[in-house]
Amino acid sequence: MTPLIAGNWKMHGTLAEAVALAQAVRAGVAGADLLVCPPAPHLASVVQALVGAAVAVGGQDCHAAAKGAHTGDVSAPMLRDAGASHVILGHSERRADHGETDAVVRAKVEAAIAAGLVPVACVGETEAQRLAGEAESVVAAQLDASLPDGFADAGGVVAYEPVWAIGTGLSPTEGDIAAIHALMRRVLAARFGEGGTRLLYGGSVKPGNARAILALPHVDGALVGGASLVAADFLAIAAAAVAGRTPGG
Ligand code: PGA
Repeated sequence: MTPLIAGNWKMHGTLAEAVALAQAVRAGVAGADLLVCPPAPHLASVVQALVGAAVAVGGQDCHAAAKGAHTGDVSAPMLRDAGASHVILGHSERRADHGETDAVVRAKVEAAIAAGLVPVACVGETEAQRLAGEAESVVAAQLDASLPDGFADAGGVVAYEPVWAIGTGLSPTEGDIAAIHALMRRVLAARFGEGGTRLLYGGSVKPGNARAILALPHVDGALVGGASLVAADFLAIAAAAVAGRTPGG
């Protein structure tokens, strides 16, 4: 499976910085699919900056409704109209800052699919849940309740992001990542059948740890926050993903 390296730019950067970052990743990396998710006001300009490049553009969230009286929100059809092909949904910062439940995330994933967007649905345990030995049950329950039935057919992507590893410089052991990804593969296969759902790992992925993480079984790419704001780091992570898959590379 071609690795997918997705950059989550979060709430960073001016419009000029977003366009410059997009231009700096335009060249891409042979053998990897790249996706960048800028803040909503910058999205159309980033799409413009990437015309003709093999770099997809996504939103960071969308509302569950296609339109309506929802001040401050952005709908999935609006993202599509602005040139997005993907949308991150259920990121732990949305779940924590905006109280998004699995049911809310599921409704948003449905809206994304209906609008023709590829959802990148995020799951992951908190530190307390991991310490309590609940990481696997939490992730399985989140997958169960956050993904609608049409998820796999729509080419949906799942990102495992342990909450305690996001932006902290901490990351789980390779064994822990491999165990959760194997679990996710089993859960998805049981529900949707064996298929090509890409499973990303996210949480403090950097050029230095990317190759080892991305070479793990069932890790089909990465969702990158901080390091995606530096074009050279983002591209180095993508190159590491490709190198980790090339025999002898
Ligand atoms: P990080 O963020 O790479 O800065 O840890 C990952 C994410 O939140 O998607």
